[in-house]
Amino acid sequence: MDASVTGVRIGTRAPLGTELSCPGWEQEGALRCLMNTLDPAVAEDSSRLIVYGGRGRAARSWEDYDRIVAALRRLSDEQTLLVQSGRPVAVLPSHADAPRVLISTAMLVPAWSDEQEFARLETAGLTMFGQMTAASWFYIGTQGILGFTHETFAAIARRHFGGTLSGRRVLTAGLGGMGGAQGLAIANLGGRALIVEVDPERAARRARDGWVDTVTSDYGEALAALDAGDSRRGRAVALVANIAEIAPRLVGDGVSFDVATDQTAAHDPRHGYVPIGCTADQARAAADAADREQGQAAARAFDGAIRRSLVAHAEALLALRDRGTIVFEYGNGLRAQAAIAGAGRVEEIPGFVAEYVRPILARGVGAYRWICLSGDPEDLRRTEDAALDVIGTDSLAGWFSLARARVPRQGLPARVCWLGLGEREAVSARLNELVARGDVGPLALGRDHMDPHSVASPSRETEGMRDGSDAIADWPILSALLSAAQGASWVAVGNGGGVGIGRSIHSAMTVVADGSELAARKIARVFHSDPALGVARYAHAGYPEALEEASRSGVDLAGSA
Ligand SMILES: NC(=O)c1ccc[n+]([C@@H]2O[C@H](COP(=O)([O-])OP(=O)(O)OC[C@H]3O[C@@H](n4cnc5c(N)ncnc54)[C@H](O)[C@@H]3O)[C@@H](O)[C@H]2O)c1
Repeated sequence: MDASVTGVRIGTRAPLGTELSCPGWEQEGALRCLMNTLDPAVAEDSSRLIVYGGRGRAARSWEDYDRIVAALRRLSDEQTLLVQSGRPVAVLPSHADAPRVLISTAMLVPAWSDEQEFARLETAGLTMFGQMTAASWFYIGTQGILGFTHETFAAIARRHFGGTLSGRRVLTAGLGGMGGAQGLAIANLGGRALIVEVDPERAARRARDGWVDTVTSDYGEALAALDAGDSRRGRAVALVANIAEIAPRLVGDGVSFDVATDQTAAHDPRHGYVPIGCTADQARAAADAADREQGQAAARAFDGAIRRSLVAHAEALLALRDRGTIVFEYGNGLRAQAAIAGAGRVEEIPGFVAEYVRPILARGVGAYRWICLSGDPEDLRRTEDAALDVIGTDSLAGWFSLARARVPRQGLPARVCWLGLGEREAVSARLNELVARGDVGPLALGRDHMDPHSVASPSRETEGMRDGSDAIADWPILSALLSAAQGASWVAVGNGGGVGIGRSIHSAMTVVADGSELAARKIARVFHSDPALGVARYAHAGYPEALEEASRSGVDLAGSA
């Protein structure tokens, strides 16, 4: 499969400015967001169409990418393009209020939905893994997750350390698309982060863009850098090494940490977790060979090496936990994969959503985001100011000023912020008005898949739900159906984001704000109903904060909650 996507191009850049290359702004928005997702400054490995999260791709092959682009460039305002796992499959008549694009990625019949069957189908060229925002063309780089990572570590600081990470040490791994945000989030809260990354290029990229302060491949130097200077000031140190080697070594050396977690792409061990003894490049080649030669001796040996490394890593985390370190899984499926590999007691490690993020989601609040399609950084500043004018909280002002000062730009200007019911429709409507007045160029408005109702993921977003509804996947499907019915510009569903095939079902939507009345109608419908469904999902699960929000905002729960 990789042969069809390898080395053909270095990536793509979205066109800038306000001139259309498609029949309308909804199509142009989809086109620019797809191209932006594959921008080499945004994607982790754009030449292989890999955006982030292990093998999360935006299109199945470069030929499919070309066909998607061609279809968008001719798509009328009364047609809808259908994309099946990264391949465009039909352009059908619809109507202006309908979505312009519908996307379904990596969906398998439940009893067949596992890594092995998926690898077989992917090798046959029939599907692709789309992570979450890769296949829904709304990935904006590491900046997209920074707010979430910041909220998670802030919750840890509040729960365990009196509200600050000052003087605290955090051990983690992975400086990829999502994991790359860890250092800045921890340092900003005053903590010291040791982040182990096996790929020297990824570590160098994060240092170049200001996400980590120091990079070294020397163990002693990394520990010295972790302790250097004023201990109350935050700092992020990247150690180029394998976490499966380093974590047991730290335990053996008695090095103490207050918090430990991991963001390697362990959800997809063969492609996302480098075993001890391999460089990142060697692991990539071995993984592709193992896909082609399933069951052969070399493939079995490679998978075995990964399993042994996962067990060593998990056991070291448990040893730290036994010594009093706060250990949690950071949404990467490490516990499940380590258990499959033979590690014991991994169920003692809690997941980050159940432990720290649930109270935010239970209020129906999640990560809203927008992309400035013109590429003009001034558009971002003006739209942030408008959002502040509408919402006006200190925490939003604080986040925007941190983001302006510290967040490196990747691709088209974009911002994320935490908004709930009422707020999203008010901000989105105001942003469309700015476009209508000509104050800013057109915008793409949307959210992550990781919203209160739009992911079913029993080892992450829906782990430990109050009513036991962890594996109920009706909510993300209802979410996608609802967004399509309300006329979002594009709507996507996917399988396996975050935690691996068969372990999650999720959906997302985007609305293009081009200042038109049609956009205003779509915005009013989508940005009310989508967060309202988030409130309903948590209200039906019995969360008092969601029940209160439903009653305050007048969400009709159909008499059953
Ligand atoms: N935290 C969140 O909110 C969140 C959101 C989405 C996804 N995720 C999950 O987090 C994980 C990381 O996502 P990503 O987008 O950063 O993935 P990625 O594939 O872009 O990066 C993973 C990184 O881990 C490194 N790595 C792999 N094995 C290693 C090892 N043994 N030792 C040290 N480094 C190693 C790789 O070199 C790579 O840089 C994924 O499982 C993803 O599904 C988390």
